[in-house]
Amino acid sequence: MIELTAIIDSAQDAFAGAITPAELENAKALFLGKSGRITELMKGMAALSVDEKKSRGAAINFAKQSIEAALNSRRQALADLELQAQLRAEALDVTLPGRQRGQGGLHPVSLTLERIESIFASMGFDVAQGPEIESDWFNFTALNTPEDHPARSMHDTFYVEGGSKTAPNLLRTHTSPMQIRYAVKHVKKYSNVVNAGEGQSLFSGEMPEIRVIAPGRTYRVDSDATHSPMFHQCEGLWVGENVSFKDLKFVFTDFCRTFFENDDLVLRFRPSFFPFTEPSAEIDIQFPSGPLAGRWLEVAGSGQVHPNVIRNMGLDPEKYIGFAFGMGPDRLTMLRYGVNDLRLFFDGDIRFLSQFQ
Ligand code: PHE
Repeated sequence: MIELTAIIDSAQDAFAGAITPAELENAKALFLGKSGRITELMKGMAALSVDEKKSRGAAINFAKQSIEAALNSRRQALADLELQAQLRAEALDVTLPGRQRGQGGLHPVSLTLERIESIFASMGFDVAQGPEIESDWFNFTALNTPEDHPARSMHDTFYVEGGSKTAPNLLRTHTSPMQIRYAVKHVKKYSNVVNAGEGQSLFSGEMPEIRVIAPGRTYRVDSDATHSPMFHQCEGLWVGENVSFKDLKFVFTDFCRTFFENDDLVLRFRPSFFPFTEPSAEIDIQFPSGPLAGRWLEVAGSGQVHPNVIRNMGLDPEKYIGFAFGMGPDRLTMLRYGVNDLRLFFDGDIRFLSQFQ
């Protein structure tokens, strides 16, 4: 029986040494195959007596079963190893961040413009857009700023080739030309009753009040930490038969408090000059608390629309009156988010811009 134990041992060694299924099947053949060692032993039994056959047969059978058991467990082990290897090869690292398409978002100044639009829309203001390449007439002359007016020099701008005084010839220096453009269109819309004659070219019918804001890009020859050659403005205009400075104060105060979500915000209307308004005022705001507390911050120019401008809208200044303002959305964005350099808005640096998403 020592012999059988040795065979079992060597089978176990052979199986353990097999590291692929093919090697294992080869090793199996050495013991259980047609001329394997166990098969040979079985064949050798023919010569034995009946009694010997019984005990010898049982012993050989036991050896055979032990070898088969060793074979099966090795098969299982190899299958497990193979599975492990396969799993490892196909492993997914679920902690790896996915490859996403970059998420875009609105520019901080666009967020401000949307905010301005929705606040004024809630007060019944229309929102209008106009051309950035403007004519001399709309940008200056119609706004009571004739060619030799000194105020023009504060609005140095970029001139385009091929324009003329009435055809587009410059990049607009403010959104104020939209006062004229919008009002003229509005007046025309209700003008089917107007008869031009006997110096009566002005509108004399009934029309709803003009109430509009006009946000957009504007241009000036100016560049430092708080000025950019391209910047934004938002014009506001309210003209009717009975619109006063009191309405300007109310509307603009309400706007600022809503925009900054601060009911304690204080406003100051500081006398100033614009050719197209009379009287005119700069509007300053002051935060009651926070990092900017106690400082007056200029946010807009404003005033009662000048009679000459009312006339250029096609309206009679004896009948129509109103106010206008022009504010700087870039400035409002800086104040709202605590940004101290205007140029950051236009550098296009994604590290800056993504902070607003
Ligand atoms: N257009 C003026 C500017 O750019 C601002 C303004 C608008 C002032 C409307 C009064 C009325 O400085």
